[in-house]
Amino acid sequence: MEQQIIENPLSSWQAPAPNPEWIAALEAGKVLYFPNMAFELLPSERAFLTPAARDPKARNISLDAAGHLKGAAGDTAAQIALALMIGRFREQALALIDSLLPDYKNNLRLAPTSYRPMQVESRSQSWRADDKRLHVDAFPSRPNYGERILRVFTNINPDGVPRVWRVGEPFETVARQFLPRAKPYKRWQAKLLHALKITKSLRSEYDHLMLQLHDGMKSDLDYQARAQQVPMPFAAGSVWVCFSDQASHAVMSGQYMLEQTLHLPPEKQYNPTASPLAILTRLSGHPLI
Ligand code: SIN
Ligand code: FE
Repeated sequence: MEQQIIENPLSSWQAPAPNPEWIAALEAGKVLYFPNMAFELLPSERAFLTPAARDPKARNISLDAAGHLKGAAGDTAAQIALALMIGRFREQALALIDSLLPDYKNNLRLAPTSYRPMQVESRSQSWRADDKRLHVDAFPSRPNYGERILRVFTNINPDGVPRVWRVGEPFETVARQFLPRAKPYKRWQAKLLHALKITKSLRSEYDHLMLQLHDGMKSDLDYQARAQQVPMPFAAGSVWVCFSDQASHAVMSGQYMLEQTLHLPPEKQYNPTASPLAILTRLSGHPLI
């Protein structure tokens, strides 16, 4: 199988110049891995390296686009310090993306930045929510009409524990297997989901098919075992970047990660024909949004 992970020696969050090969690899759904790029914690921030940093009632800790911290435990001073740490990661992630992919600038939409202090392997979830199974990211309640999901991750584990992923086969290979099995899109069902407020807007055929891929992959244990894949330990003190709506991925173990999501209209890519929207449209033979 073609290499799905591209290692990059860059250590600074500011790439010296955009590199057409890295850009094409990323837009082909590969994972860019920066083993020498670390997010530095201040000594005082080490106190946040505990699952207790999270409010037990919340799923995640996040800093929203407006700068509000959600899901954190602790008093006001601790919450301000945690927001500053997550905000600093956001700025570095944005600097990295701006320097690697300068044409995206002004077209990116900032999503919340998350801090995930929980141990991956101790979480048990329903199959659909279980990110230990290979999948492409798709949101059931927030249709995105083909808008891209670009993510920057950093492993900040203080004990050298890697965050171990499995990285699967190229998007088109996945789509060719699961599109024939996808339930057909029904507009009346999409309208019902919207009327019932299960979706925040009308689910498009694109969004329906992306969820069918996500669910088809996760529900198929035979596929999980047999699909072409590579285990990938992302080292403590490293960064990786991918389009998570395109790169087939699963997280097997690890603890303490920061993650920044950015959204991009697919027509603003360097190569719009590489997007999941373009691939699914070509494979299905009709417009999907
Ligand atoms: C995911 O997007 O599936 C989870 C990634 C992670 O927690 O490392
Ligand atoms: Fe995911």
